[in-house]
Amino acid sequence: MKNKRFFITLLSAVLIVTSLTSCGKSFRDAAKQKGFRAGMSVGAGIFFDKSVSKIIKENSYVVVSENCMKWANLRPNKNFWNWNDIDQLVKYAQENNMDVKWHTLFWHRQNSPFVSSNWTREQALKMMDEHIETIMTRYKGKISEYDVVNEMFEEDGSFRKNVWYETIGPDYIEHALIKAHEVDPDTKLYLNEYNNECKGNRKADAMFNYVKELKEKGVPIDGVGMQMHLDTSYNYNENAIRANIQRYAEIGIEISFSELDVRIPMDAIEAHEVVQENIYLSLYKLASEEPNVTSVITWGYTDKKSWIPAEFPGKGNALMYDKDSKPKKVYKDVLEYLRK
Ligand code: G3I
Repeated sequence: MKNKRFFITLLSAVLIVTSLTSCGKSFRDAAKQKGFRAGMSVGAGIFFDKSVSKIIKENSYVVVSENCMKWANLRPNKNFWNWNDIDQLVKYAQENNMDVKWHTLFWHRQNSPFVSSNWTREQALKMMDEHIETIMTRYKGKISEYDVVNEMFEEDGSFRKNVWYETIGPDYIEHALIKAHEVDPDTKLYLNEYNNECKGNRKADAMFNYVKELKEKGVPIDGVGMQMHLDTSYNYNENAIRANIQRYAEIGIEISFSELDVRIPMDAIEAHEVVQENIYLSLYKLASEEPNVTSVITWGYTDKKSWIPAEFPGKGNALMYDKDSKPKKVYKDVLEYLRK
């Protein structure tokens, strides 16, 4: 009898301690407990502001630069490399136990003026190799994953005719992956894309078939980024996303929700907030339930500063912190789900 009472008291104590510990977990630790890294993109040097740094630390085990790793910012002309912002980010991340993701080695936007469609294949390959070698040698062991190529498909599933496609040909992606693996075999290599999250979508299917082909050929590739710049005005299909994630798991590919935000029409904010919350909850649930989803990275964290109004006028309020950098209801509800 005494033993039974002792056992019940012990069990209650364990339950209370467990629930208290999980109650107090930060967003990033709650996500870690669910099996993935939470993170965000950060603007150059914003972590020098203590209040911003506090938010980054609560929410991130992985950070990515919003702009400073892109050609136009990193290498504005042929002879000058602007390492400063990236070095600062890498130092900050190391001091705060965070991974750094590189975004992006090759893309059709934000290129430097000297990146030219007039290069011959040989000139373009030389430039590509130089870019990979310079960056990946400098940051060897310090970058957990690279977006090697960003946005390489058109909506119809054909390859986007970016400068690298035009000068090198469709094998530019393979070439970049092989070279990147040669320079830093221990980092993870990703291809990153938007509108590629739903199985059955033309672009998503084309990307899956292409990645499968790369795997079969033995080309080094570890993951696919699904940007997840979503909009509450469009249909959201959890089943199609899950099916897509699972077919990637079958071929040994990990998934990152790599640039998450969910924009809503500014003239109907309240009506769309519930839809937005359901989308956020669904994605964090998918990340918790599907073992090959390894990170969920939001594109920034606050509505105070966002790329959306510039590209989607009339849309916004897409993140989980409001314009005063205070967590919204959606943030609290996602956190509560992650802590369970
Ligand atoms: O640095 C210049 C500054 O010198 C100049 O005075 C100012 C005038 O407009 O522009 C500044 O550059 C801007 C840059 O952001 C840095 O703030 C560019 O105009 C602006 O186009 C650029 O926008 C970025 C956009 O990519 C460009 O393609 C956004 O911040 C960035 O959030 C966005 O991120 C992309 C991802 O890389 C890929 N997926 C989509 C996502 C959203 O478009």
